[in-house]
Amino acid sequence: MSIAIEGSRFLIRTQKNLYVMEADEHGLLRHVYYGKDIPLGATFELKCPTTAFGESPSKNRSYYHHIIAQEYPVYGRSDFRQGVLHVRNDVHGDTLLNLIYKSYSLSQKTPNIKGQPCVRNTNSPSETLTITLADESLGVSVDLLYTIFEESDVIVRSAVIKNNGSASLELLSALSLALDIPADKRWEMITLNGAWARERKTERFPLTYGIHAISSTQGNSSSNFHNPACLLVRPETTENYGDAIACSLIYSGNHQTQVELNTFDHVRLSIGINPFDFQWHLEPGEIFQTPQAVLCYSDEGIGAVSREMHSFVQQRLIPPQWKDHPRYILLNNWEGTYFDFDDRKIVSMAKDAADLGIELFVLDDGWFGQRNDDKTSLGDWFPNMEKIKSGIGDLSRRVSALGIKFGLWFEPEMISEDSELFRKHPEWRIECPRYKPCQGRNQYVLDLTREEVVDYLYDSVATILKDSDISYVKWDKNRNLTDIMSIALPPQRQKEFTHRYMLGLYRLLDRLTSDFPHILFEGCASGGNRFDLGMLYYHPQIWASDNTDAVQRLDIQWGTSMFYPLASIGSHVSAIPNHQTSRHTSIQLRGAVAMFGTFGYELDTEKISIEDKEIVKQQVKAFKKYRQLIHQGEFHRISDPDTNIACWNVSSLDKSEALVLAVRVITQGNPGSFNVRVPNLIPDALYRIDELGITAYGAELAQMGIWMPMLRSQIKETELSCFCSWTAKEGDPSFADFSGMIFHIIRIK
Ligand code: DGJ
Repeated sequence: MSIAIEGSRFLIRTQKNLYVMEADEHGLLRHVYYGKDIPLGATFELKCPTTAFGESPSKNRSYYHHIIAQEYPVYGRSDFRQGVLHVRNDVHGDTLLNLIYKSYSLSQKTPNIKGQPCVRNTNSPSETLTITLADESLGVSVDLLYTIFEESDVIVRSAVIKNNGSASLELLSALSLALDIPADKRWEMITLNGAWARERKTERFPLTYGIHAISSTQGNSSSNFHNPACLLVRPETTENYGDAIACSLIYSGNHQTQVELNTFDHVRLSIGINPFDFQWHLEPGEIFQTPQAVLCYSDEGIGAVSREMHSFVQQRLIPPQWKDHPRYILLNNWEGTYFDFDDRKIVSMAKDAADLGIELFVLDDGWFGQRNDDKTSLGDWFPNMEKIKSGIGDLSRRVSALGIKFGLWFEPEMISEDSELFRKHPEWRIECPRYKPCQGRNQYVLDLTREEVVDYLYDSVATILKDSDISYVKWDKNRNLTDIMSIALPPQRQKEFTHRYMLGLYRLLDRLTSDFPHILFEGCASGGNRFDLGMLYYHPQIWASDNTDAVQRLDIQWGTSMFYPLASIGSHVSAIPNHQTSRHTSIQLRGAVAMFGTFGYELDTEKISIEDKEIVKQQVKAFKKYRQLIHQGEFHRISDPDTNIACWNVSSLDKSEALVLAVRVITQGNPGSFNVRVPNLIPDALYRIDELGITAYGAELAQMGIWMPMLRSQIKETELSCFCSWTAKEGDPSFADFSGMIFHIIRIK
């Protein structure tokens, strides 16, 4: 890791990569290079040309042209692509801006972004380069921040925009970064898209001329439609080979990720707060700080940038106390009981869970106010005394006495019309006085731009947390914003609403997670509607999807793993038929898929068969044994579920062991055996796989691959049999659907 300044050139070196920019003779900060490191002594004479034939604004100012690679392009005087900063001055009303390089500074720390989730300082060194650009005639300056880390290949970027003038300014857009990639259109984009119950499905497509953007306009969530991240790869890039650039935003609200390919084949990637319906008013002396964005490059394929992102999230983003802390195996009562429970039922489920070896019981929705369905009581964070007769404090202690931890569900950002809170504070609901506000799941959203609302929520949640024996909180959010405005904001600040909402939410989360550091917070938003780096700063794990169907989970977890580590992916075994898809899969397969996440159960323990209970016990035992490997190891995607063979593995950092999941999703007649090549082992080390009765060298496992057994009888009984749903019977050529297994590879020499 190093940052070097050579004249007006800036060279940022991460572990394997180099990022170069320079201020040219006109003061324009130009992007020169981002990719694999170039040995010291590079001339940089090969940088992208600055001119092309065509209608540049003026011949002798040809540097203002549409092929110049820039670091922070703005609208008006540089090029004809979309910039990342758009400012309207309140004196003349025009939107021209001319940012010229002024100065730089270096610091040995990561910058702290006040009030927003951001990268953490740790014991491991980091370095930040700040480059200041300014338009002195307008009185605007922009600090561009680049932070790098000793242990990582990522670069974290953000911008601070200052109004140094004497009049106010309006920010019309202020994105976190631009990355100009010159001269080659052979790039493809990978995004994660979906909807409720089918979140984060990968899509890969070649860039075409023009703009492709993904975004959220849902106000209070990064959304399950489009995750705030993307990958740029070459057509030839695979999991293990080729150029890959990952980009992801540390933000949970309205975002935009955009790629523009111009007709000179130059690519501009940008990411940040969605400019749609955004504006920020800056009085003289005020600043605006963009969220941070994370960039990562590798020439070793998509898997390599995913693993960099995983380790970055674990090392630099999540609350540090959870970095190495085992994630609790939990039982959640939601799909088991929905709203229909009382304290007797809860204690009985918790006892079952404790007997099964489960470590945490989570009481989900329905424990507060008068809540017996989803029509009432959000905002009334005190116990429903009809159901929980002795209160949450007493219940939590009764559960703890069984030898299992207790966790509780909240949905603090919401309010029901039928609630004591609404009767007292109807003005706290988000609504526009002109219209009847829209409902979503029979509920409304609280105006978190108001400090008194945030304070109320802090007090009501903190009171329960203080009075009870609580080890875990599930923080849910089940509707998006509509009727976006606040009666507490003046007209010229209404377009600040969604960002101010996020700042209010971050303030609330910051206070609660700092004051209760021993409590594990799991994020949730109708499943995975807010799965992003912003939320991971507070919640080290996030419920990935309400869809617990093992087959669809293969897709969801595959996509989620592009940017997010397994230790962050909330995954449970639920009952069959599955409540979202009605599919029947074996408890073994459900366990096997859930194992590659945080792991838990979400069913009524009083309704599972004695045989299944025995399997659950074995699964819990096995997960405890392999949990560290799964959460701290290196994850490799091997075969995309779309190919009908879903396969991935986790190997320990020293490569002495690995755990592989292999699933044939849908059967065929006479399907033949399939081959699994296991990456990331030591080529000349000898390994044993008990489940398959195989001994082989790492090179053989990686290059020849394992031919998976045709028949169930060819698989040996081990402690991992509880995850094996290889359903073929001896002599039966027609295999059943959803054949899956986990096998363990252990180094023996
Ligand atoms: C949506 C969540 O995703 C579910 O897991 C559950 O907590 C329900 N909300 C409760 O209302």
